Amino acid sequence: MRTPIIAGNWKMNKNPQETQDFLDSIKGKLPDPSQVESVIAAPAIDLNALVWFSKDEPLKTAAENCYFEDEGAFTGETSPKALSEMGLNYVVIGHSERRDYFHETDEDINKKAKAIFKNNMLPIICCGESLETREAGKEVEWVVGQIKAALNGLTADQVSKSVIAYEPIWAIGTGKTASADQAQEMCHEIREAVKNLYDEQTAENVRIQYGGSVKPANVEELMSKEDIDGGLVGGASMDPESFLQLVNYKN
Ligand code: PGA
Repeated sequence: MRTPIIAGNWKMNKNPQETQDFLDSIKGKLPDPSQVESVIAAPAIDLNALVWFSKDEPLKTAAENCYFEDEGAFTGETSPKALSEMGLNYVVIGHSERRDYFHETDEDINKKAKAIFKNNMLPIICCGESLETREAGKEVEWVVGQIKAALNGLTADQVSKSVIAYEPIWAIGTGKTASADQAQEMCHEIREAVKNLYDEQTAENVRIQYGGSVKPANVEELMSKEDIDGGLVGGASMDPESFLQLVNYKN
């Protein structure tokens, strides 16, 4: 059985004090982690507060990005080794904002996935098509291509533990959610792709999130779909009450 995983993605929002205020508001209110895994992905400057909080609370922590080398002359980058030593659990990689604005390639994302495993963390690997690609009817081919490239050279065991986040670009921050059926269809295609690349068990194990305007009002319907194991949530994860409603969607 796959444990549902709801992850907030704060993007470039909140300073350390705002992070602390948020954490104070959710203290003692997160769900039992055997029922729903709660995760927050935060800017690097806020991660220290998250890690300290997670020592006493059922919260998993994620960085929003890292580099693929452990250390060296890479000014401005974040070391996966240092993130791991800090106690981070996950790193989000391949978000469409990083692909679009910072020109990250499939190859970079694959290198990052390997660096994350090498440092005993787990990747949340994002994929998703533009509106143009969907309108051309090429969305499955596109997303499966991104997944194949990201997983290249990873073992079945590593893929089993990975999280894949399907985020159609046209639904991110637009208020325009993919319908639960559209989200389910693509998450199913991704699972089929993992089955074809690896095996049935790996496909059964890998957790697949949907992201793109997920909010308390639509989380339950999305989570009721067979191949949707979680959500990667931007806007609606920033307010503590809204985040709590999302992670407690079962109650
Ligand atoms: P959104 O962002 O929930 O604000 O649409 C999702 C994401 O980019 O991860």
